[in-house]
Amino acid sequence: MFSLKGKTAVVTGASRGIGKEIALTLASAGAQVIVTSRNLEKLNGVKQKIESFGGTATAIQADMGDLKRINAFFAEIVERFSKLDLLINNAGTTVLKRAFDILEEDWDNVLNTNLKGLFFASQAAAKLMKETGGGKIVNIASVLGAVGEELAAPYIASKGGVIQLTKALALEWSRFGIQVNAVGPGYVKTEINAELLDNEKAGSHIRNKIPMRRLGSTKEVASGVLYLCSDEASYITGQTLFIDGGWLAQ
Ligand SMILES: NC(=O)c1ccc[n+]([C@@H]2O[C@H](COP(=O)([O-])OP(=O)(O)OC[C@H]3O[C@@H](n4cnc5c(N)ncnc54)[C@H](OP(=O)(O)O)[C@@H]3O)[C@@H](O)[C@H]2O)c1
Repeated sequence: MFSLKGKTAVVTGASRGIGKEIALTLASAGAQVIVTSRNLEKLNGVKQKIESFGGTATAIQADMGDLKRINAFFAEIVERFSKLDLLINNAGTTVLKRAFDILEEDWDNVLNTNLKGLFFASQAAAKLMKETGGGKIVNIASVLGAVGEELAAPYIASKGGVIQLTKALALEWSRFGIQVNAVGPGYVKTEINAELLDNEKAGSHIRNKIPMRRLGSTKEVASGVLYLCSDEASYITGQTLFIDGGWLAQ
């Protein structure tokens, strides 16, 4: 089950955290993986790790908050690879501030990466997938796309947008054999939230609110992505699979 042999996958934000784990997981399942983020040195580390277990990987630097770079990235994909089967839109960022303190640049940075970049990466990938009979796009949303929380207004707006965009693109592109789904993680400790989770008060508040009383792991999120990328998920589109220890069941 869940073999990705012969598939070519792009994973954005693959230099660390959840994206890195997704890249390793897809490569372990047999996919050729193209890893991208702004940090080429870290991407090369991920590429080496994949090659160390016999996988195939390519590292290409790109800023998913910059439309010109996104288009240049996909132009390079067209040139270097015969097809694209899978796109994992994982690159994401946040700003930990009260709504009163959010500046225009905070808003633009979060929304450009998490939502605008994700849309235009999907558009570019879907144009390629359409040419070869289809493909699968998996967006990394969040439980905070479905419920609110303090200190992350632009992030929450962007992730709510990701869940809705997943439905809109699924409807437009299913006729081309392209499935669009999302995974919505609960709390997994990575660079994006380490400061929050390490804060004694905020960290224990969050842990006590999780019905399973523990954080998720990058592996648990990557397993959900692998399922949605596989042939076994061939009749699923427009959905968000929440991997959240029960957070949204409350
Ligand atoms: N951790 C959680 O609890 C959690 C929960 C729900 C959803 N998520 C989502 O999961 C995804 C991965 O987050 P993470 O937890 O693994 O955080 P992370 O460790 O901070 O990783 C974020 C990744 O996104 C990349 N990135 C950020 N801005 C980028 C840009 N402008 N262009 C290209 N790449 C960019 C970073 O790479 P570079 O810095 O190298 O560019 C990095 O690889 C995000 O979409 C996040 O919102 C995380």
